Amino acid sequence: MTRLFDLARPVLHALPPEAAHRMTVAALKAGIGAPRERAPDDPILSSVVWNRAFLNPVGLAAGFDKDAEVPGAMLRFGFGFVEVGSITPRPQPGNPKPRLFRLAQDRAVINRMGFNSKGHAPAIARLEGRDEAEGLLGVNLGANKDTGDVAADYVTGVERFAPHADYLVANVSSPNTPGLRAMQRREALADLIERVLAARGGASVPVLVKIAPDLDAAEREDIAAVALETGIDGLIVSNTTVARPDGLQSPERDETGGLSGAPLMAPATACLGDIYKLTGGRLPLVGVGGIASGTDAYAKIRAGASLVQLYSA
Ligand code: FNR
Repeated sequence: MTRLFDLARPVLHALPPEAAHRMTVAALKAGIGAPRERAPDDPILSSVVWNRAFLNPVGLAAGFDKDAEVPGAMLRFGFGFVEVGSITPRPQPGNPKPRLFRLAQDRAVINRMGFNSKGHAPAIARLEGRDEAEGLLGVNLGANKDTGDVAADYVTGVERFAPHADYLVANVSSPNTPGLRAMQRREALADLIERVLAARGGASVPVLVKIAPDLDAAEREDIAAVALETGIDGLIVSNTTVARPDGLQSPERDETGGLSGAPLMAPATACLGDIYKLTGGRLPLVGVGGIASGTDAYAKIRAGASLVQLYSA
């Protein structure tokens, strides 16, 4: 993978970031670039979480494969699990371009994609034909920008994707959909979780909530309490940050949107550690934000993560 990326990087980095991403997904979809077979994992990396056997704990975070076009190819690269999405019920274009920025000097990215999504239907059609032996797949659910009932969009997502996913995620932490992050407040979150868990019905699929790193101490306490009270299956910590840590060098640093990559590592790991302490280790946590090496991944695990994910790096 490293050699291939070394070869492709100059070409991809000569293109605007969103075009490079689109070309990469198109190539993978056409069968170009991904290994034919997955290399074997060292058995020492395996673990069981939510009754599912993970070959390794390193997953691909949401946002790379928003429409579930290439989960098999990404699993063959060696990810222990791939999370597709966020997928909104109805198709929507997302924000005007440009909306994705490389902060090369900071090893970071800013995005304000705004849930560009082809909607539930085409993703379900693809996942129905998927070979489950390819590996573990999570589906990250979003809400349409013009929805009248945000929670209802997640409920619909749970109902439709439960048969096709190893786990589901209610993403209430994207900074690019106005009002969405208010779903993290205590009452709204409790109501949302009750509704999505009811929507799961008899299906055994685990449902997780993905949270922002930009929560103050009281908000973290509330989320931990609600998570334990409602019986949600886990939390993903974290999404991108709206903060701009001191010391960013890149000219794009003041673009509006969520910051990810290296500058997110410390704040997201601190948030993960807080949530681990507040939930007393009783809830599986997925650590994400700024991972670029095995050392980074291990720092997340030491802070309380059962699994980790990455994207920007
Ligand atoms: C994201 N991320 C994201 N998360 C999510 O839950 N739903 C989404 O649709 C997206 N979309 C998205 C697009 C782009 C371009 C980026 C860079 C990120 C957030 C992502 O899953 C992850 O939480 C953060 O990027 C932090 O991890 P990294 O990138 O620092 O490893």
